[in-house]
Amino acid sequence: MEEIAKKKVLSCIQPSGMLTLGNYIGALKNWLNMQEEFDCTYAVADLHAITVRQEPAKLRQQIYSTAALLLALGIDPEKSNIFIQSHVPAHSQLSWILSCYTQFGELSRMTQFKEKSAKHTDNVNAGLFSYPVLMASDILLYKPDLVPVGADQKQHLEIARDIATRFNHTYGDVFTIPDAYIPKVGARVMSLQDPTKKMSKSDENINAWVAILDSKDDIIRKFKRAVTDSEARVCIGENKAGINNLIGIYSAVTGKTAEQITAEFEGRGYGDFKLAVGEAVAEELRPIRERYETFIADKKQLEDIYRMGDEKAAYIANKTLSKVMKKVGFVL
Ligand code: TYM
Repeated sequence: MEEIAKKKVLSCIQPSGMLTLGNYIGALKNWLNMQEEFDCTYAVADLHAITVRQEPAKLRQQIYSTAALLLALGIDPEKSNIFIQSHVPAHSQLSWILSCYTQFGELSRMTQFKEKSAKHTDNVNAGLFSYPVLMASDILLYKPDLVPVGADQKQHLEIARDIATRFNHTYGDVFTIPDAYIPKVGARVMSLQDPTKKMSKSDENINAWVAILDSKDDIIRKFKRAVTDSEARVCIGENKAGINNLIGIYSAVTGKTAEQITAEFEGRGYGDFKLAVGEAVAEELRPIRERYETFIADKKQLEDIYRMGDEKAAYIANKTLSKVMKKVGFVL
């Protein structure tokens, strides 16, 4: 019987510091869930990380640590391809070409650029500005059908689709137009200290975010301190950003609906609820934490895995790049 080709999935993550519960619920959980059904390619996006200043030794460590974390999560290199973005030069090469097909105006409208340039006023570099073009290249080289990301990356996905559509319109069917795959629950996990802001590892208040590798005690302590409201009823509501966020997190890790969660905590205080969320999150992350120690301790194995991934990725990426180069009129 003829085998039906699996749909393709591509996504990347920056190796910038500790990965958070936001990364996990918004993206990584889906990366794992998709690996049985889809042909998945996942990369550590180190080129993206240097749009803000990084300490070289620390960055190197974080790249290893991010690769180890993907393995600890359960991404199986026999099923999914894991590689390091900078090891596949086609990403930078395609990025230059596509930057000539992307308008200054469209890049100026990117929310993340506006936010990051306001935050790092002393280093508003060209890389920060053209970041979405590199991200479009990461995606388009592999012709994926789906790109699992959190809600904050939706705008970047849209510009990738626009660039691809424009290129195809001029040169014929070169790129697949990918769809974003954003989770229904937990697409935007918010800060535990200011639930109107996205949970982010760059938040200076360490109580605002939970790292995937935090200890059980730290996780529970952070949830106990989470900012809520004075109504004391566990239900979704306006002006209840803190509780809405905790319900979203609890729902994402337990699979319970918001209604079931409200029923479960009817007549009980926020203290009980926060403890339950902390315990559920700590339990969900426990196996990842344990497996991580094994993967990070074996650098040789890590290197073998990403080298194999780099090679497979380069093979696919170079095919797309050659096609693009031919289309624009370069001599091969
Ligand atoms: P990055 O490294 O900031 O985050 C990795 C993934 O985690 C998601 N995420 C969240 N989801 C929900 N709530 C949060 N608080 C939260 N914080 C982060 C992000 O949406 C993302 O899916 N530019 C990308 C990396 C990238 C990429 C790509 C992604 C580079 N090339 C190609 C997809 C395809 C980024 O900075 O994600």
